[in-house]
Amino acid sequence: MDLGIKDKIAIIGGASQGIGYGVAHQLAEEGARVVITARREPALQEAAERIRKDTGADVLVIPSDIRKSEDCARVAEATLKAYGRIDILVNNDGAPPIGKIEDFDDVAWQKAVEQNLFSVIRMTRHCIPHMKSGGYGRIINVTSVSTRQPIAGLGLSVATWAGVIAYAKTLSLELGPDGITVNTILPGRVDTGRLELVTRQRAAKEGKDAEKMIAELLHEVPIGRLGRPEDVAGLVALLVSPRGGFITGTAIQVDGGLQRSV
Ligand SMILES: NC(=O)c1ccc[n+]([C@@H]2O[C@H](COP(=O)([O-])OP(=O)(O)OC[C@H]3O[C@@H](n4cnc5c(N)ncnc54)[C@H](OP(=O)(O)O)[C@@H]3O)[C@@H](O)[C@H]2O)c1
Repeated sequence: MDLGIKDKIAIIGGASQGIGYGVAHQLAEEGARVVITARREPALQEAAERIRKDTGADVLVIPSDIRKSEDCARVAEATLKAYGRIDILVNNDGAPPIGKIEDFDDVAWQKAVEQNLFSVIRMTRHCIPHMKSGGYGRIINVTSVSTRQPIAGLGLSVATWAGVIAYAKTLSLELGPDGITVNTILPGRVDTGRLELVTRQRAAKEGKDAEKMIAELLHEVPIGRLGRPEDVAGLVALLVSPRGGFITGTAIQVDGGLQRSV
């Protein structure tokens, strides 16, 4: 099936590895020109090279720290300079530290808001005018299923991403008349380096056996396996395509059935 995104210009955050890389790879396979960002340039360049080799797509690399306002502006400016358009924005990056809510001060909360909420607000603000003038716009935010089923110790992420979901829903109402869609994806347990790292950190903080905790990650997933970046990427590809044009204002989990509520 041709999704119809050939030559669309897509900015994908946190694309040197994990979910962001999976999304960039899939959009490139579908013919999009991808602009990939992350902080560490060598890893980003390696990712770009793999995507070019596998798909033949145009890949633009922009090293940037999404917590910095000036870097968000630079990503949009460099994309416009290279391609003259922005059609698709995928807000996806790292996350704030884990720990009990009572242990975090204002500084930690400010940083969490910068990373999870302000990065989305800023990147989106820079892209909206160009989506309007270009006549095509798709905005995707990657958060977590823990916004629906919170996990103790992930409070900084859960609270700030809940704000992203409410922001995205409101924005979808405002941008609907322009044909621009805004959706949020809630991954469950996706097998990236990050999942193991966070699980080990949680085990250390809670005084639990890390290996046991890692093994247990699988038990609650009805589909019986961990997610793969491609599982998230498949949904992103549909949502950012013309075929996804009637889907907006949603927050969809990709979690193998992990979330228990109806
Ligand atoms: N994996 C899961 O099971 C899971 C589940 C639910 C939600 N999520 C969320 O989904 C997102 C992606 O997860 P993942 O597992 O793919 O993570 P990952 O493998 O750790 O990849 C994170 C990516 O974001 C980049 N990044 C981190 N901080 C950044 C910053 N300040 N500015 C710009 N780029 C930054 C990293 O590169 P640099 O370090 O070089 O910047 C990397 O490319 C995260 O927000 C994560 O919390 C993941």
